[in-house]
Amino acid sequence: MAFFTCIIQKMGNLVHKLLTMGLEHKKILIAVTGGIAAYKINFLIRDFIKKGAEVQVIMTPSALNFASALTFSTLSKNPVFSDFYGVNGTWNNHVELALWADVMIVAPCTANTLAKMVHGQCDNLVIATFLSAKCPVFIAPAMDLDMYAHPSTRQNLEMAEDYGHFIIPAEEGELASGLVGQGRMAEPGTIVKEVEDYLDSGKQSRNFAGKTILITAGPTFEAIDPVRYIGNHSSGKMGFALAEEAAKRGARVILISGPSSLQTQNKNIELHRVTSAKEMFEEVFRYYEGVDVAIASAAVADYAPKDVALEKIKKNEDNLTIELVKNPDILGTMGERKTRQFLVGFALETQNEEVNAKSKLEKKNLDMIVLNSLRDEGAGFQKDTNRIKILTADAMEEFELKSKEAVAQDILDFVEKKTLK
Ligand SMILES: Cc1cc2nc3c(=O)[nH]c(=O)nc-3n(C[C@H](O)[C@H](O)[C@H](O)COP(=O)(O)O)c2cc1C
Repeated sequence: MAFFTCIIQKMGNLVHKLLTMGLEHKKILIAVTGGIAAYKINFLIRDFIKKGAEVQVIMTPSALNFASALTFSTLSKNPVFSDFYGVNGTWNNHVELALWADVMIVAPCTANTLAKMVHGQCDNLVIATFLSAKCPVFIAPAMDLDMYAHPSTRQNLEMAEDYGHFIIPAEEGELASGLVGQGRMAEPGTIVKEVEDYLDSGKQSRNFAGKTILITAGPTFEAIDPVRYIGNHSSGKMGFALAEEAAKRGARVILISGPSSLQTQNKNIELHRVTSAKEMFEEVFRYYEGVDVAIASAAVADYAPKDVALEKIKKNEDNLTIELVKNPDILGTMGERKTRQFLVGFALETQNEEVNAKSKLEKKNLDMIVLNSLRDEGAGFQKDTNRIKILTADAMEEFELKSKEAVAQDILDFVEKKTLK
């Protein structure tokens, strides 16, 4: 009996989780401004409604020249407001609208509205609602390519991002002016996906907005001759998961990866690919001085062949001896050159795990070390899961076996706790 009660309870939890995941029952407030792309909002409303969201639309007075409030109202099944004042002296309550929303989206966002948003110039219902909103705000700019590239627009977008808002960048393509370039509003499908991903992440924190995080990932390959190398089994999965999570939390991410088949589409991740430890060293120290957090998750080879044969080594002798020399110590040098950076290292140990990790933490002047043991089932190279312990000078926390994405969340939660007071 207890068994069946437990199963029913679990199924109930699952159904509840599915019902509350993503956009289902979410309240989406769309603010439309005066650009040609306003016609695409018909599709945006329809896509949100299809996914089970509740939609309300507000418009700037200028937007009324570009799209029909009647169409938006019909599609959203809600009245559309574009003025503070309704009929018979009523007030279209911008505070109530702002607090109603789970997510606010400004789309298309004109250069004019963007400027007003970042400077708090409150002369219409859209800006008043935006300034009252406590929910996350997504901004989908749309304008001609030169307006989009103008330093004032770039700076306003950066400021909006620093305030913790989410920018959905304009796309490349043909523009209303007939010119071709970056400035088209992101497609409705892209906007819906960005919002959905954000809601699904469950994290919903933009605590790293304005911070730069450097992450190293993957193995390094040390050439023996033009076709052979000394490498290791690292896939780069942990480093890439960390990069995605840090970008989701608003950071500018510099990801320096050794040879890995992984890719990223995230526009906030600057991916630099390298091959050897020496190349990784050089790339890391091109950026290290300017970063706030550095996470060294790459499995860097300790040694490299002293000489690299110019031609493929032939199979002549029974024994082949390759002399190896020590590679530069990337993590150790990061520790030596540390000024304001919060430095995180990784330790993969096979014995005396905690003692060795603690000693690495001290020796390399780290602020935190993530320990994983090859003895743990499901942890380590090539796996999709990992089981870690996090050690600092005065604390240790142990985590369950989890997906590398969930481990990335744990690691960055810890970094957040230590760096954002
Ligand atoms: C035909 C036409 C198309 C326009 N398209 C855009 C646009 O795509 N992006 C933009 O930033 N401004 C565009 N503008 C200029 C804005 O409509 C203008 O800056 C207006 O003041 C914006 O008001 P709002 O931001 O309050 O909606 C366009 C103007 C016209 C006449």
